[in-house]
Amino acid sequence: MTDTLKKEDATDDWKTHVFDSLSFPTLILRPDRTIVAANRKFFQKTGLTENQLIGDTCKHLFFGDSDHDNLPCNSSQCTLAKCISEKRALSIVLNDRDENGDKTWEERVFSPILDSRGEVSYVIESLRDITKVKKLEKKYIDVRELIDKVVQSSASAIMAANRKGDIILMNKAAEDLFGYTVEGANHVNIEDFYPPGVARQIMRKLRDEKNGEKGKLPITKVNIITRDGEEIPVEMTAAIIYEEGREAATAAIFNDLREKQAVQKKLEEAEIQLVQSEKLASLGRLAAGVAHEINNPLTSILLYGNLMQEKLDEDNPLGENLRYVLEDAERCREIVKNLLAYSRQTSPSKDIFYLNNLVGESLRLIRDQKLFMNVKIVKDLDDYQILINADKNQLCQVLINLIINAFDAMEGHGTLTLKTYRDKKKKKAYLEVSDTGSGIPEENISKVFDPFFTTKEVGKGTGLGLSMAYGIMEENQGKISIKKTGPEGTTILLEFPEEEISSEFHFVSIG
Ligand SMILES: Nc1ncnc2c1ncn2[C@@H]1O[C@H](COP(=O)(O)OP(=O)(O)O)[C@@H](O)[C@H]1O
Ligand SMILES: [Mg+2]
Repeated sequence: MTDTLKKEDATDDWKTHVFDSLSFPTLILRPDRTIVAANRKFFQKTGLTENQLIGDTCKHLFFGDSDHDNLPCNSSQCTLAKCISEKRALSIVLNDRDENGDKTWEERVFSPILDSRGEVSYVIESLRDITKVKKLEKKYIDVRELIDKVVQSSASAIMAANRKGDIILMNKAAEDLFGYTVEGANHVNIEDFYPPGVARQIMRKLRDEKNGEKGKLPITKVNIITRDGEEIPVEMTAAIIYEEGREAATAAIFNDLREKQAVQKKLEEAEIQLVQSEKLASLGRLAAGVAHEINNPLTSILLYGNLMQEKLDEDNPLGENLRYVLEDAERCREIVKNLLAYSRQTSPSKDIFYLNNLVGESLRLIRDQKLFMNVKIVKDLDDYQILINADKNQLCQVLINLIINAFDAMEGHGTLTLKTYRDKKKKKAYLEVSDTGSGIPEENISKVFDPFFTTKEVGKGTGLGLSMAYGIMEENQGKISIKKTGPEGTTILLEFPEEEISSEFHFVSIG
């Protein structure tokens, strides 16, 4: 073997032909680094002659006369030395610049040739230009990095899971939405990101060919479950990633719907409020006209009726009938009074006062003490003296109406709670009237603020209380709403702008 490799003896040897036909420039070296042969490709590439090459060392060939410590040949990193000591093929990648100054990469592969005793007698060193591969690799890395950046900076949450359902990718938005990091999510199965059964349903849809394109889920609304167990409505799309026709992973994109839904809800509420205000306004005008017309004849009925009553003997049998006439006329006057108030004929005269005082004042004004019978009254008033700027008489009317409604709903038994509190940040003051009564049935919730809507027997309810309250609250820049209602009772919420205390402020005390 040693002899056949000597260039002069080996011209006819088939091994030399093989050596010369190698497409990579290749050298054969002795363990002492002396070059004993080079193939045709090597001569072509370097332009060197046999005389220049044979007998030279690889160190001298590649690094010339320089002999500084940093040369790979001088350190333990010399691949040739390593290949000899470890008796196995090794490679090293070197980079350089071409004539245009562009970076080039070359891989040098060292393969040992062992003799019959198993010792390294020669080493084949072949040079492979891997610039193209390296450039492609760099391009691939750049594209990957770009995709990574796009995914990471997306405002939509992006997530991918492998076939077993383990999370393999989560961008920043996904981590924020779900409350996990990718590492944390590693221990969580994809099924736990949805309410029970939903993940399977999504997979079924993804695999269903009838459902649009197979492997793709069109925009779908679902709820997801965060790490804290919170259910969040989202809009999602998903896709199965196939590799060679087999399912390899699934990827999904999520958009949080909470903000969108909140805006939508506000819009709907504003629309309802507008309709309600318009309804009240037109009915208000009608009611005002009717009330005015009825008021005068009613006043005379009451005036003459009272005169008659004074003149009648106590035992006159007509006395009872007259009393009924007067009682009903009185009731009519009450209705007319409410109608006029409801139609907002009287514009509010505003004062600044303590919200807590309104509660005491209104309770005192309810003269019909028999209503209180077995009802416990709880006053849960804010320690802070909240100020509001409103028409206190009108608000007393509102509160009295709410309290009477609460008593009616409890039919003499239960607890009435009057609560005041504020939201300092929002600058709002709140007054809640809660009862433990029967609640408002679902189908009536949208109607209770309508004028003349009542579920009470004739003679008891006019159906004007809440619609009047609605009108008054609106006029005083406040709001009235049903905070909650059900078989456990009802809470009506009044909301006002909180009045800020200024140094030169004066207010009237009503408590
Ligand atoms: N606290 C409450 N609990 C249950 N139902 C209520 C309550 N407040 C109001 N309602 C319902 O709303 C209707 C309208 O109330 P309102 O406008 O005050 O008229 P009225 O009290 O004259 O019936 C009532 O008839 C009743 O059905
Ligand atoms: Mg009422």
